[in-house]
Amino acid sequence: MESKGLSRNNGENKAKPKRKEIIEKRKAMDALIKVASAEKDCLSAFPAFRHYQISGLSAFLESGRGDKLSSPVKQFIQNLLKANMEGPYGSEWPAEEKVKRREMVAPEARYVFVRIASSGEFLTTSEREKTAASCVEERGPIVGFVHFRFVIEEELPVLYVYELQLEPRVQGKGLGKFLMQLIELIACKNHMGAVVLTVQKANSAAMNFYLYKMRYVTSTISPSRVDPLIGIEKSYEILCKTFSNEAKAILEEPLELVHSV
Ligand SMILES: CC(C)(COP(=O)(O)OP(=O)(O)OC[C@H]1O[C@@H](n2cnc3c(N)ncnc32)[C@H](O)[C@@H]1OP(=O)(O)O)[C@@H](O)C(=O)NCCC(=O)NCCS
Repeated sequence: MESKGLSRNNGENKAKPKRKEIIEKRKAMDALIKVASAEKDCLSAFPAFRHYQISGLSAFLESGRGDKLSSPVKQFIQNLLKANMEGPYGSEWPAEEKVKRREMVAPEARYVFVRIASSGEFLTTSEREKTAASCVEERGPIVGFVHFRFVIEEELPVLYVYELQLEPRVQGKGLGKFLMQLIELIACKNHMGAVVLTVQKANSAAMNFYLYKMRYVTSTISPSRVDPLIGIEKSYEILCKTFSNEAKAILEEPLELVHSV
């Protein structure tokens, strides 16, 4: 999902930081983003998250990057996005699909892929036949992924979740929650101020998942909070979970009202 930011009035009654301070702060943020993005395997610090097992579902996580995706993986991503997102996007889908294809292969795109075990009960008949024919212990098929990036949003370093997509056969089994918990740990480990994401309003299942299960809140940079009129026009909301007081003040707390007497 495209990183969507909206500029807002940060309270004109606050003392403006000095130019030098702004430059220093920006340099420090750029350095954080650079270090976070340079990590080769985002899972290396979280070995317990490489394997997920619950009620018959055995899944393995792998990391990846946008400029290193194989053709079959790109095809898988495109197919899953279409299957899951064409409905919520409605008439916006053809344009959005093109945007997502470009975003998919960007060098700054980071991925966590979910594979299911090649012996698992969630395999389709053709996947099962393929595994049996190969006569070797194979990695099973990919059934979902998270695409995220380390970016600067509203002068804050954040982890922006562009996509979280699971095939229907593995939805509702705790994997989404498991992946978001991992994403939050990756964000904290890399000193990001928040996890930010965009959700289509029409995708009520995902909206419920983030708001009520993952405890995300509608950000102050979301169209509906910047201006209710803009909010009505836009088809998406920006949600966030903050990890520092500075991030909370920028992304979560209501704008200060400037009263003129
Ligand atoms: C949205 C999505 C990522 C959620 O992942 P998931 O693995 O299906 O969800 P989980 O099984 O981890 O659910 C975690 C919790 O959220 C709840 N939940 C999941 N889907 C829900 C829904 N549609 N409505 C309400 N609660 C929901 C579960 O009951 C569970 O609660 P619990 O912890 O109390 O048991 C997944 O369903 C998906 O890929 N959907 C299609 C693509 C999509 O919409 N992606 C989001 C785009 S922004």
